[in-house]
Amino acid sequence: MLTLPDAFSDKMKRLMKDEWERFAEAFDAPAHKGIRRNTLKIDETAFKDLVPFADEAVPWCPTGYTISPDIRPGKHAAYYAGLYYVQEPTAMIPAEALSPKPGDAVLDLCAAPGGKTTQLACKLSGEGVIVANELVASRSKILAENTERMGMVNSVLTSAFPEKLLPAFAGVFNKIQVDAPCSGEGMFRKNPDAAAEWSPGRVAACAERQKKLMETVDKLLAVGGEVVYSTCTFSPEENEQVMEAMLETGRYEAVPLELPGIVGRGRPEWTLNGTKDVAAALRVMPHEVPGEGHFIAKLKKTADAPDQPRTKNKRAKKPAFARADKKTMQCLRAFCDETGLAFPEGEILRVGDMLFEPPKGINPDRLSGMRLLRCGVPLAEVKKNRVEPTHTLAMTLSRDAFGNVFDTDDDNVAFAYLKGEPLAAPVKGWCLVCWHGFPLGFGKGDGRIIKNHYPKGLRIYKK
Ligand SMILES: C[S@@+](CC[C@H](N)C(=O)[O-])C[C@H]1O[C@@H](n2cnc3c(N)ncnc32)[C@H](O)[C@@H]1O
Repeated sequence: MLTLPDAFSDKMKRLMKDEWERFAEAFDAPAHKGIRRNTLKIDETAFKDLVPFADEAVPWCPTGYTISPDIRPGKHAAYYAGLYYVQEPTAMIPAEALSPKPGDAVLDLCAAPGGKTTQLACKLSGEGVIVANELVASRSKILAENTERMGMVNSVLTSAFPEKLLPAFAGVFNKIQVDAPCSGEGMFRKNPDAAAEWSPGRVAACAERQKKLMETVDKLLAVGGEVVYSTCTFSPEENEQVMEAMLETGRYEAVPLELPGIVGRGRPEWTLNGTKDVAAALRVMPHEVPGEGHFIAKLKKTADAPDQPRTKNKRAKKPAFARADKKTMQCLRAFCDETGLAFPEGEILRVGDMLFEPPKGINPDRLSGMRLLRCGVPLAEVKKNRVEPTHTLAMTLSRDAFGNVFDTDDDNVAFAYLKGEPLAAPVKGWCLVCWHGFPLGFGKGDGRIIKNHYPKGLRIYKK
C-alpha cells in the first residue's frame, strides 16, 4: 500500500471534501499500461495483425490501445521497428488536446522522453515542422533515440533553456505543447519515489517555474496560436492558478476541451481570484478515469504583449551551416543511384562529416549558437570518396524506398539482427533490413553475408 505524505493527504482532503476517500483509494489500484500506434509507419489493419496485444481502444485517443499488465511492450520486434510508442493512456490526452494539423509550426517545449513529440509528429503527417526541446542533456538523448525509432522527419531537436529559443523562434509557432516539469503527484502510484520526494516547498517552486515558462511561451507563440499546458500533478498552484495567471494577462482565451471519457474539469474554486474560465480545462483524476492524474488546459493567444520582441523571420547574418560541396553531393548521388534511394529534393547541409536535410519551413542558419541535437534527417556520413547511410535514415524509409531489402517475418532472425549479428543472405551492397516489411536498420552484403550496421549503442543483449 502506498504511503502518501501527510501534508499532501491533509491538503487533498481539504480540497476534495467528500470525494477524498474515493480519490485516496485510487492510489492503491494498479497502474494502467498502453501503446500508441505510429501512424507515420503503419495503418490500423496491419497494426492489429502485427501487434496482437493491442487490446481495447483508448476512448480519447484514436491511435491508442490499452495493453495487459503482464505484456512487456519494449521486448517486441514491432517496438524496434517503431510501430508504436509505449505510453500510459492518460498521457495521450495533452497532444490530442493540442491536435495540430499538417503544415502547422509546432513546438514541444519540455519534450523528453518524447511521448507527446512523437504523437504530435503523427498528427503533422510529415507536413509542417516540429521543434522538440529538452533542457536536460541526458534526457535529450533519449528523446533523440525515440524520435529516431519512430521515423520522424520534419523535426528539429534542441536542448536549451526555453528562453534561449527566443532569438530563433519568437512568435514563430502556432501550436505549443508545454508538458511542464511538476511536482508529480499524479504519478505517485506509478512512481512511489515521487511521493517520497514531495514537499509543499517543491509544489511552490514548481508553480513559480511554470509561470516563468509560460512567460517565455507567450513570446514564442504567434498571435492566433494555441498552447496546451499540462502537468501530471493535482496541486491547484501548478494547474488552475497557472492557467488563471495566463488568462489575467487579458491576451488569452480559454479553449474548452472535450474528450470522450474525460469528465473532470478545472476547478474555479481552486483559483486565487475565482476565474470561472479555468473550467474549460480537463482534470484527469484517477478515481474517475482509468489512468494517472493530469491537468490539461488549452489557451488561445489573442494579442502580443506591448513589449513583445519582433524577431520573427529575421534573416540570419551569416550561414551557420556549410552547404555540402560538389564532390560530397556527387558521393551522395552515387549512393542514391546505387541503392535506388530518391535523391533529396531540398538543400543538403554538412556539419563535420554528417550530411543532413533540414526540415522545410525552418531557416537552419537561425539556429546558430543553440545546442542542437538534430536538424531534419541526418542522411549520411561522409567517408573518403563515399558516403555511409545513417540509422536515422533507415528508420524514416518505407520498404519500397530502397533497392536492396532483406525482409524477414521470423522474430528470431529480427532479434539476431538487433543483437548485432551478421545475417546469411546472397545480398550485395547496402540493404534495408526489415521485419514484416518495416525497417529495423541497414546492413551491407558481400553476396553471402550481410554485415550488421545496427548501431552498437542500440544493440540488445537479451530477447
Ligand atoms: C513531464 S516531463 C515531459 C514529458 C514529455 N512531454 C513526454 O510526453 O514524454 C517534463 C520535462 O521538462 C524538463 N524540464 C525540467 N526543467 C525544465 C525547465 N526549467 N524548462 C523546461 N523544461 C524543463 C524535464 O527534464 C522533463 O523532461
